[in-house]
Amino acid sequence: MSKVTVVGAGNVGATCANVLAFNEVADEVVMLDIKEGISEGKAMDMMQTAQLLGFDTRLVGCTNDYAKTANSDVCVITSGIPRKPGMTREELLGVNAGIVKGVAENLLKYSPNAIIVCISNPMDTMTYLALKALKLPKNRVIGMGGALDSSRFKYFLSQALGCNANEVDGFVIGGHGDTTMIPMARFATYKGMPVTNFLSAEKLDEVVKSTMVGGATLTGLLGTSAWYAPGAAGAFVVESIIHDQKKMIPCSVLLEGEYGEKDICIGVPVILGKNGIEKIVELDLNADEKAKFKASAESVRGNVNALKDLKLV
Ligand code: LAC
Repeated sequence: MSKVTVVGAGNVGATCANVLAFNEVADEVVMLDIKEGISEGKAMDMMQTAQLLGFDTRLVGCTNDYAKTANSDVCVITSGIPRKPGMTREELLGVNAGIVKGVAENLLKYSPNAIIVCISNPMDTMTYLALKALKLPKNRVIGMGGALDSSRFKYFLSQALGCNANEVDGFVIGGHGDTTMIPMARFATYKGMPVTNFLSAEKLDEVVKSTMVGGATLTGLLGTSAWYAPGAAGAFVVESIIHDQKKMIPCSVLLEGEYGEKDICIGVPVILGKNGIEKIVELDLNADEKAKFKASAESVRGNVNALKDLKLV
């Protein structure tokens, strides 16, 4: 039996649980929240779609009862406050760090072998915090940011090309921040051909810029952080792990010399399978991409240093 826990039954957590159930990624999905009744209510509501949508996954909701999460294969952490318009993800650090640390420790008590997927922001920093707080091997703590940013990149590419997003391929590395993510335009393809064959440099630059502020644009429109794509990106990462799909997905992982960096979690392409991170894929970056990655890493390191100042790691 496969089991996934999603902590935080807000917009992102509930969407993630819903996608996991609808796609029958696991036999059981547990949602846990600190707000009385929210997880129970959302789980019941979703279960009442099972017959309509034709899925067999069992959804369970609970209020802060970690015993119900016992023996999960994968635990997803979405806890914390979301962005308000105009806020950066980094501004959430002080509040969310304490929450994420407590949640991660509770989860591990009941699921000592679980793989942890972090969604809470600032995502790279929360991934680093969970990894260090839990003292887990690096293959077991994964930040989902790159999966989301890559999906947004493909969306904006498809808009520019006037095609379906499934016709394009592309990925984003670096930090999950408005100024730190690096959409890899050079590697993006349309039906296997470089998108540079179809889009002007100016158009491609617009796509890259829209991708980078993709989350902020939605926060402006919605008044809070987006949830459909963030939740689905979390479920996408979980599926590759639970079903041992070995997909190559950009995720935030601890670097120990790869890409010339160490002691930070940042987005790079990884192979995800039943052991979590099974391989870090090292790309041959050109000078411009290397400079961007270095700047992104410096920014992410600034947040890690803030965690150290707060004595959280
Ligand atoms: C976003 C938030 C979830 O990018 O980080 O929408």
